[in-house]
Amino acid sequence: MAEDLTINTSTDKAEQYATLVPQVEALLYGEPDLVANMANVAAALKEQFKWFWVGFYLVKENELVLGPFQGPVACTRIGLGKGVCGTAWQQAKTLIVPDVDAFPGHIACSSLSRSEIVVPVFKDNEVVAVLDVDSELLDQFNETDAQYLEQIVKLINF
Ligand code: SME
Repeated sequence: MAEDLTINTSTDKAEQYATLVPQVEALLYGEPDLVANMANVAAALKEQFKWFWVGFYLVKENELVLGPFQGPVACTRIGLGKGVCGTAWQQAKTLIVPDVDAFPGHIACSSLSRSEIVVPVFKDNEVVAVLDVDSELLDQFNETDAQYLEQIVKLINF
């Protein structure tokens, strides 16, 4: 597909995702390389939503290890049950954190991050990665994000 992403400037998140999802499908189509696909998904989400940080952590030898991302440099390794990412991994469920300061054990890779959503990625019923999205604004994520981000990570062949 062409390298340009069409940005939907609607204020309605569902509409923004509706424009983005088919473009992500096209970006991934026919490409088996996992790093390339995670990189483009992180870039597409960052470009559409202008979030502070978007990226993947991969489960490697019982730790989460930083994968492709868009945004400032970040923590490299996160243990099981640590921070929002490690908790989403441990609980195998999407976590929406409206205020990171109110989340016990939140790992502040950047002091600018204010709210966060972490979506686990499953393969053969095991969590193999998480998608982490951070905003510098409070309360930026809701069930619409959870639903579409879960759909988007399923498009990647892990
Ligand atoms: N805040 C995350 C750590 C990853 S960074 O935000 C990129 C956490 O608490 O797990």
